[in-house]
Amino acid sequence: MGPVVLLLVVAVAVSAAPAAAELPRLEHSPKADGSLSILAVGDWGRRGEFNQSRVATQMGVVAEKMDVDFIISTGDNFYSDGLTGVHDRAFEDSFTGIYTAKSLQKPWYTVLGNHDYRATPWRRPALSSRKSTAEVADFFFVDTTPFVLQYWTNPKDSTYDWRGVAPRDTYIANLLKDVEASLGRSRAPWKIVVGHHPIRTAGKHGDTEELVQLLLPMLKAHGVDLYINGHDHCLEQISNSDSPLQYLTSGGGSKAWGGVYAPGADKVEFFHDGQGFMSLRLTATDARLAFHDVAGAVRHTWGHAKTAHY
Ligand SMILES: *[C@@H]1O[C@H](CO)[C@@H](O)[C@H](O)[C@H]1NC(C)=O
Repeated sequence: MGPVVLLLVVAVAVSAAPAAAELPRLEHSPKADGSLSILAVGDWGRRGEFNQSRVATQMGVVAEKMDVDFIISTGDNFYSDGLTGVHDRAFEDSFTGIYTAKSLQKPWYTVLGNHDYRATPWRRPALSSRKSTAEVADFFFVDTTPFVLQYWTNPKDSTYDWRGVAPRDTYIANLLKDVEASLGRSRAPWKIVVGHHPIRTAGKHGDTEELVQLLLPMLKAHGVDLYINGHDHCLEQISNSDSPLQYLTSGGGSKAWGGVYAPGADKVEFFHDGQGFMSLRLTATDARLAFHDVAGAVRHTWGHAKTAHY
């Protein structure tokens, strides 16, 4: 077998185009042995505080050991109100000055969180996209903040900058159409969707009902394997009762909430209310993930093997 080409797919609803478009797409090659290693971290940008720096240090250690190919950020990249522009010092104080290990100087693929949407008077880049390592995995990055109705209606959330997004209904309809079309075309062994908000969670925020209604049926219909999110400041894995889908929360990049545990109907495989991050190693037939805590200890692992036809 020749070298496996990894293709990453990111999902962004960029226009109000009437026909379903494929999401903007980025490709990434796997290693020569056909594997792909990644880290996922969320809810982090606090100028190193709340153990952000300690988590970053451990990410560097694990990234070196695994020789990671890229890092996924599940959003809420800059607290509390996103970036003010391309020259905002927070970019250095909370990102480039924190994740300094050589092993972390790799592509970072991110979604925006609700905090990144606040009071940011500048044009954000495309919001959903698809990254593909086609023979190993397709990753679909979905902009979930506009789904949450409360951000549009609650007066206390009036700082949200919806320019380029409003009206909500059109944006969501187009985004879902594009995600559906891209999922439908994916032939990758692993389909992985990344969004900021949890679909199912045992954390403080609870399930995101808008995603349960609008996005989840699509993920199940297309056999999505993993949904990776942040928003709840914890680490968790929940398995779906009627499909192979695993819900993975990696929202422990800085401030952890602690002491909140509210399981729903699905099975909670793992829950940690402190800081940390997730690692994932994929080949065409195997997935292995681990959750690492603030001290670098492995708190939970999970693996899954697939036969070659998918
Ligand atoms: C940082 O992590 C340590 C555990 O290693 C914990 O005791 C401490 O409370 C954490 N600090 C914050 C601000 O969360």
